[in-house]
Amino acid sequence: MDFAGSRIWIIGASAGIGAALALALAGRGARLILSARDRDGLAALAQRCRDARCIPLDLARPDSLAEAAAGLAREPPLDAVICTAALYDPGRVADLDPRQAEEVLRVNFLGMLAVARLCPPLLREGGQLVLFGSVAGYLGLPGGQPYSASKAAIANLAESLAAELAPQVDVRLVSPGFVRTRLTAKNRFAMPAIISPDEAAAAVLRGMAKRGFEIHFPRRFTLAMKLLRLMPYSISLRVTRRMAQGSGHAPGQ
Ligand SMILES: NC(=O)c1ccc[n+]([C@@H]2O[C@H](COP(=O)([O-])OP(=O)(O)OC[C@H]3O[C@@H](n4cnc5c(N)ncnc54)[C@H](OP(=O)(O)O)[C@@H]3O)[C@@H](O)[C@H]2O)c1
Repeated sequence: MDFAGSRIWIIGASAGIGAALALALAGRGARLILSARDRDGLAALAQRCRDARCIPLDLARPDSLAEAAAGLAREPPLDAVICTAALYDPGRVADLDPRQAEEVLRVNFLGMLAVARLCPPLLREGGQLVLFGSVAGYLGLPGGQPYSASKAAIANLAESLAAELAPQVDVRLVSPGFVRTRLTAKNRFAMPAIISPDEAAAAVLRGMAKRGFEIHFPRRFTLAMKLLRLMPYSISLRVTRRMAQGSGHAPGQ
């Protein structure tokens, strides 16, 4: 994709990788629509992006996305919709707040499903629908149960859509390793191969500019996680149990 002059909607733009993507895309001449809950954060970001406007919305409120999509349906088609929005609330399963766990699933998975339902008609022929999963979706990781499960579901959803919506929509799954954002600031363990949001945004744009379904980075970490997923459970679970000991999320810790 040539980003200069393209119209791109970023849902989850107010912080982290979404904000870095907005700045990188604006730098390449894209015309942006920025969405998230934080109105002030979006407005401040829009001032730093040439040719950007904000549509605040909350993916936990189904009518909120539908309203935004209905407005955009009256405008020229979009070249891409990128959904980075997600919540993360790590902890041991015994300590889960059920309401918070539901909110994680509502935003991360049902929100993404709503994006998958409402956004394809807004795209031009061959436009990109870019959904953010995670390496946490490759294999259940300790301490992030609803989050990991939502990310596995998003990978599955993106696979379904890639088959169902082709060739009208070019569906992409983004699977980042660790990126230094407010989301990972909640982790209490050493995060291997962690990269900056700007590096993550650059990797996403490189992936969007090329062909291919999955955009995963940094490869030194994601390839190791892919290999772990292919191992028999007798090996992979031995590794994730060791992770649980190191992260303080094993029983009794
Ligand atoms: N950081 C990592 O290491 C990492 C690793 C793997 C995958 N990922 C994935 O990458 C994506 C971006 O992560 P990040 O680290 O950049 O997270 P982040 O800094 O916490 O940003 C998340 C974005 O999602 C938005 N959001 C959250 N709840 C929302 C809601 N209900 N409605 C609309 N927008 C909402 C947030 O904006 P508001 O709060 O303003 O709504 C924010 O703009 C996520 O899908 C995450 O799962 C991240």
